[in-house]
Amino acid sequence: MKDDKESVFEPSRRKILIGTGALAAGVALSQLGGLVKKAEATGGKTEKWPWPYEKLDPAKTAEICYNEWYRVFCGAAVINSVVGQLREKVGEPYTSFPADAFLFLEGGQVGWGTICGSPAGANIVANLIIGPRTAGAHEGHAISADIMQWYSETALPTFTPQNPKLTAKLPTTVSESPLCHISVGKWMKEANQPLKSAERKDRCARVAASTAYRLVELLNDWHDGKYESTATFSSASENGITGQFNCMECHGDDVPEAPQPKA
Ligand code: HEC
Repeated sequence: MKDDKESVFEPSRRKILIGTGALAAGVALSQLGGLVKKAEATGGKTEKWPWPYEKLDPAKTAEICYNEWYRVFCGAAVINSVVGQLREKVGEPYTSFPADAFLFLEGGQVGWGTICGSPAGANIVANLIIGPRTAGAHEGHAISADIMQWYSETALPTFTPQNPKLTAKLPTTVSESPLCHISVGKWMKEANQPLKSAERKDRCARVAASTAYRLVELLNDWHDGKYESTATFSSASENGITGQFNCMECHGDDVPEAPQPKA
């Protein structure tokens, strides 16, 4: 579908493609900002996106996610808990979506302790279903910000599965960060359990399940037109540098100031 804004850019885009090759065209297109629809810029007109959503049961989704964790770990488990159910309720394009490809999100991406796979997986799903902010779908972006903040501020895990693999009571911890390294590290310290313990694994399975639960609550609200963003933090606009809110945890009292825009 075309709107007026897109057709304004049609001729120049064609000229760019002929004149300077695909890479330069990509850069030029991105400079046009939100006016160019992402699907057109990258995939052409056959790409159907965002994808249809039908409401899911948060508790059932969390149960699926918990069990999936033991097969594909946090990121792919969160993705599969939603995508797997939508395969049955909606069919294509979910049937073809390779959810297991996101197994690499484990351990904050292949064990590097960057973003925890649970919020990463949830944000992939939210943006599949709602669409990117470049196409005007700001709720996808907002739900992702909500998930990051919720994950950082909540004593996790919040979800207890019906048939847990471990019956021992697990401690909960607030990470103040979406980073796997910090989230897992604080929990390991509190529980005094090593990375490879059954307790740590079950904790992470429950954190993934808790995140899937929260994600489906947000998606259901959005589906019903009741969604309101709860995120209150944007480091880029507040501090002039991308970041999370626990500045002092890493920098101590001496948080550096980012260079400000030249007046
Ligand atoms: C997870 C740890 C962590 C968090 C949280 C964090 N930073 Fe950083 N930040 C670093 C590291 C490491 C560097 C690079 C080393 C350095 O210079 O301290 C850095 C660099 C910076 C720089 C670049 C200038 C410089 O001195 O290196 C700025 C500005 C900065 N941080 C500001 C912030 C602000 C503001 C926040 C909170 C919104 C924040 N940081 C949160 C770890 C962190």
